[in-house]
Amino acid sequence: MTSEFGPLKASIEQALAERVNQSSTIAPSLLDAMRYALLGGGKRLRPLFTLVTAESLGVDVRLAMPAACAIEMVHSYSLVHDDLPAMDNDDLRHGKPSTHKAFGEWTAILAGDALLTLAFETLCDLEGVTPDVQIACVKLLASGSGWQGMVGGQTYDMHLASAGETIASIDELKALHAAKTGVLIRTSVELGARVAGASAEESKELGQFADGIGLGFQIMDDVLDVTASTEILGKPAGSDVRENKQTFVTFLGVEGAKREALRVLGAAESNLDRVLRNSSRLKALGRTAVIREF
Ligand code: IPE
Ligand code: IPE
Ligand code: MG
Ligand code: MG
Ligand code: MG
Repeated sequence: MTSEFGPLKASIEQALAERVNQSSTIAPSLLDAMRYALLGGGKRLRPLFTLVTAESLGVDVRLAMPAACAIEMVHSYSLVHDDLPAMDNDDLRHGKPSTHKAFGEWTAILAGDALLTLAFETLCDLEGVTPDVQIACVKLLASGSGWQGMVGGQTYDMHLASAGETIASIDELKALHAAKTGVLIRTSVELGARVAGASAEESKELGQFADGIGLGFQIMDDVLDVTASTEILGKPAGSDVRENKQTFVTFLGVEGAKREALRVLGAAESNLDRVLRNSSRLKALGRTAVIREF
């Protein structure tokens, strides 16, 4: 993470911590597991996209903070479930034991469930926007997270790996990436745009930018799975090969996949100048999401 986004990342982490600074007499270990998963690290790219999009449209980032926290809670829950033995079976996340390794499987499943519902509770705290915008944001988060979005994509990914089916073409792989990863990144940007009162035209251009960034981001995730070390990644390197995942590296090789990520990034950036007077921050964040070491 470049220092340019360091202060904003710190403000996201503070807001997230406040949201889980609660106590429970009936389920204290659940809250411990939620805190462990949510506050245990990560690049915070999705909430940064929400805040930087709002900021680029001229709105105080504080207005968009509940939406930023909500999208990170969904992302965090998706990682807890993604690491479970029934899914990718990864024991390490953010350089520490995965949530199910630290707290046991059933607590991890329930902590994921609770983070998902806390996301919607948090999103309801959006202030300074009309009820129409609030409802639109709830719907955006629900569809981006659910069967049409991330959960649908995770199902597609798991189905292919567990049935031993092969992906026929790069376009099919792009469709898989778009659903499992791209939609949530698009949703991050769209939430920022909605909170800032963006027009339909602005939202469309920003959404196209986000689609490109989401694809470039997941291509790089596939590359790093092969090229980076477990220590740098903070999650097990080589997990995709072990779990029979077909990735961009399978199709294009490491160098070809890297080139494709950069090509997609360039194409995504070209959407921004049409819609934003000052697109430099959002472009810088897009580059941070794609050109990275972990
Ligand atoms: C990891 O996402 C999961 C994918 C969609 C590839 P990130 O790389 O954004 O995860 P953290 O939160 O920064 O660890
Ligand atoms: C996961 O993709 C995407 C999610 C929706 C969680 P991966 O399985 O490639 O993510 P990592 O590599 O474990 O972070
Ligand atoms: Mg996975
Ligand atoms: Mg995984
Ligand atoms: Mg991966």
